[in-house]
Amino acid sequence: MRIIKELNKRVNELVKDLDFDEELSIVTSARPDLGDFQINNSMNLAKKFQKNPREIAESIVKELEKDEALKDINIAGPGFINFSLTDEFLEEVINRISDNIENNIDKVSSKKIIMDYGGANVSKALHVGHLRSANIGEALKRLARLLGCNVISDAHLGDFGRPLGLVILEIKKRFPDLEFFNENYEGDYNNIDLPITNADLEEIYPYASAKAKEDETYLEEAREITLKLQKHEKGYYELWQKIIGISKEDIKKVYDELNVDFDLWEGESDAAEYIEDTIKVFEDKNLVKESEGAKIIEVKKEDDKLPMPPLLLVKSNETVSYETTDLATIYERMKKFNPDEIWYLTDERQTLHFEQVFRAARLGEIVNNNTVLEFIPFGTMNGKDGKPFKTRDGGVMTLKELMQLIYVETDKRINEEIVEENKREQTAKDIAISSLKFADLLPFRRTDYVFDPDKFADLDGKTGAYLLYSTIRIKSLLNKAEGIDYEKITKISGAADRKIMLMLLEMPKVLEKAYSVKSLNDICEYVYNLIATYNSFYAENKIITCPDKDLQTSWLALSSVVYKTVILLLDILGMNIPEKM
Ligand code: ARG
Repeated sequence: MRIIKELNKRVNELVKDLDFDEELSIVTSARPDLGDFQINNSMNLAKKFQKNPREIAESIVKELEKDEALKDINIAGPGFINFSLTDEFLEEVINRISDNIENNIDKVSSKKIIMDYGGANVSKALHVGHLRSANIGEALKRLARLLGCNVISDAHLGDFGRPLGLVILEIKKRFPDLEFFNENYEGDYNNIDLPITNADLEEIYPYASAKAKEDETYLEEAREITLKLQKHEKGYYELWQKIIGISKEDIKKVYDELNVDFDLWEGESDAAEYIEDTIKVFEDKNLVKESEGAKIIEVKKEDDKLPMPPLLLVKSNETVSYETTDLATIYERMKKFNPDEIWYLTDERQTLHFEQVFRAARLGEIVNNNTVLEFIPFGTMNGKDGKPFKTRDGGVMTLKELMQLIYVETDKRINEEIVEENKREQTAKDIAISSLKFADLLPFRRTDYVFDPDKFADLDGKTGAYLLYSTIRIKSLLNKAEGIDYEKITKISGAADRKIMLMLLEMPKVLEKAYSVKSLNDICEYVYNLIATYNSFYAENKIITCPDKDLQTSWLALSSVVYKTVILLLDILGMNIPEKM
């Protein structure tokens, strides 16, 4: 169990006979010169019992003094209680963490959660929005699992909507003789060679999409093809499968590089077989209305302050919308997994979409009453001009381009004396990705931030590169100490090592808060502060040459707990640590 919680219990047990009818709460001291911890309840209790706060504080102190694990118990100001842990007790609890890092983690929940944080669109290049959903989602998945949840992650690829209709149409224009378009073709579609690479697809989509904006007939043709696709029409469906194959391979590669993985690689198309049933649920409940040839569901509530348009279930041209696909996906997920919660990560611009979908899902009762549907939006990554980050010519920056920019900055900083030439590229890649990921997780999830590769790659500062470098340095210290038996901490030298130990005790609270607000920023700050504090301790103390053996082994044992903790935290953040840098 979390040690501070244990301490809380212990203290409240001690003061039980004072009959406060209020839990005392122990907080880490903001004034370490006065003590490790504070108890600030006296003022409130004084009001409640119409007594002098100091009197209350004194009565508490009298009880605390009975506990041999506590020392330097004092009252400051009108009634603030400060106290510290004895060295023996502090050593004991840190050694417990060293034995098993799980002793510093509080399981918070055992819920079954489906996390939907992929959303890459087949045949379209991934962009920065996909980086953010994948990065934040992956970290939330790792965190939730660590805290006891049963998480199922799903890539939920965008693979069945109009973009695919556009791509197929453009392929048809360029290669009209492909057998996929020959209604009379009797052969095996598998044997047909598609003269198209992923790079071609990434060129075709923007071309077709731009063309459809200017050319109404082209757009109409694309709609028709989308419908053919959604109806699994011969030839079109098989061509689509080929396209999916090519594109998915590339998407997987990018997610792999980002250290992001999914349990399920479902796509919108997998929900397609549930669309009919889903629509029927709404029809049976009389929730579907006709409007200008389309089928809609009203999701407005009386007290809505903002406009809430109806959800478009089936368009007048019979194709289904993104909303319908999401409804069918909920239907499918409930049937297959019956989760306690479903989390969706996309940028804020999809707020209305999810609000409509969630409302409709509740109206149609396709989710259990107690299943939580949670939209977890995030802010945008901006350029230095404060606007969403673009390429130099104003286009959308692809994720690959973005990764390249940070790679270039990272490579400049590679220390050639340490990293062998043949490992340079991989090392630079690992550091670059970790730096990008850290920079992306550092601001509160909903806050926009500025993309600054030069700053992100800096080896000095609140950066992924700094964290990796420091972690590798602790590892190399521990390697150097091989042969020294440093299992336990038996001595505390002063304020610096004590501060690190107290910081370690804070970890469970940090993890729990991150889980509850679904943002990784506090974990980023925490791991940075822990490392920075450790680094100043490291700079002050010559561990390897320390003549006091008790102190040396204690310092090494502490370094090892810090190392294990940092590894655990960087793993939550999905950051890979290179061998050397
Ligand atoms: N493919 C979508 C996009 O790129 C994101 C999908 C998010 N997940 C969902 N179930 N709607 O915007």
